[in-house]
Amino acid sequence: MNKVLILSDVLQDLGLAYRYLPSTESTNDDARTWLDEGAADMSIVIADEQTKGRGRFERKWHTRAGAALASSLVILPTEHELDLVHLFSPMTGIAVAATLEKLFGLHPQIKWPNDILLSGKKVCGILSESAWIGSELKGVVIGTGINITSDAIPPGEMMSLPATCVEAETGYPVDRWLVLREYLTQMFHWRTHLGNEHFFHFWRSHLAYLGEEVEIQGNLEKDVTGILEGVAENGDLLIRSGQQRIQVRVGDVHLRLRPQ
Ligand code: BTN
Repeated sequence: MNKVLILSDVLQDLGLAYRYLPSTESTNDDARTWLDEGAADMSIVIADEQTKGRGRFERKWHTRAGAALASSLVILPTEHELDLVHLFSPMTGIAVAATLEKLFGLHPQIKWPNDILLSGKKVCGILSESAWIGSELKGVVIGTGINITSDAIPPGEMMSLPATCVEAETGYPVDRWLVLREYLTQMFHWRTHLGNEHFFHFWRSHLAYLGEEVEIQGNLEKDVTGILEGVAENGDLLIRSGQQRIQVRVGDVHLRLRPQ
């Protein structure tokens, strides 16, 4: 029988400072406060429930007690990482995908820039927020919400994409702290490969909608439609539109499959 994991043991074994909250508004806000107070690199905030969780595009991110793995990690970039900060968010997507693959033999895909899909449905969202003092980057907070049980799936009207949870895909109960331990182990691993060949190989080989017709909407001169060809070294999405290859920068843009 599998051993039941204790959160404090998992985090102590990994040597990480942590704050665990049964309920909070948003772990990203808590991590930001901790960063301002002087949190060490890789300090992590974990909550059972979030009452004002936030997603990209100022969307609400619902977290019911115990249904998801809601955490926010403080990263203090090294000198070398300062030029690669834009890759922290995809790195987190890679770490989550590698976690689900390794622990459960699932086949996660990364929907650019960093939603994680299982069976084409969203299982995890990532919100990366940088903290600046003037022009100096103080740190990055990376919030991750992984749906574990079906209670984590939001009501239809709150979803930009159909959602799933890990347990729906495995077909058996899943220990959140096991997922957390592997996710953090993967974050340590991928941080040492940030922006290298290994990193891009994993990202590209797990890219959702590769070779499919997609559309990008958002703050572009005009919407882009074309075939998704990959990601560039700077993290831009590459789209083939007729004879043209278009690079789309991460930002306020939405990617989706083109409706048939
Ligand atoms: C998205 O898909 O739009 C990103 C969702 C990010 C949700 C996580 S849950 C933990 C952390 N705290 C928050 O308020 N948001 C992130």
